[in-house]
Amino acid sequence: MAQVQLTVNGRAISRDVEPRTLLVHLLRDALGLTGTHVGCDTSQCGACTVHMDGRGVKSCTVLAMQADGSTVTTIEGLSTDGSHALQRAFKEEHGLQCGFCTPGMIMSAADLLARNANPTEHEIREALEGNLCRCTGYHNIVKAVQTAARTMQNA
Ligand code: FES
Ligand code: FES
Repeated sequence: MAQVQLTVNGRAISRDVEPRTLLVHLLRDALGLTGTHVGCDTSQCGACTVHMDGRGVKSCTVLAMQADGSTVTTIEGLSTDGSHALQRAFKEEHGLQCGFCTPGMIMSAADLLARNANPTEHEIREALEGNLCRCTGYHNIVKAVQTAARTMQNA
């Protein structure tokens, strides 16, 4: 066991973890942040995407020990009440069906919009190419990101 200390959604966290514990399992199992989903555990689906030190990462590819000292934001930390422009746009544009991929999609999109406030459709598709939607709702997902980008620019 080793102790890791990190900031998750603005809260300082200290936990003992096994050397092989993945960040996604620390978030879900130890911290109860089950909005971060596990679709594959092998870096294929993007359902586990969170922000680590301000950049989107697939949290199944990061050991909890590698996150020591970092700042992590999960979907629960994007807004406390679902009021973030991306969360609202995914609802308005029907960008979610079963919702399994949605937290990862939104966290990847938030990473994109933080770096590029006015992305083209191609740039959105490129930024989300590591996120799979088994409901194949890609068209509305892209529309939702475009809507959120407009809302955020006008805010
Ligand atoms: Fe991490 Fe699928 S669970 S990429
Ligand atoms: Fe079902 Fe994307 S909405 S997996």
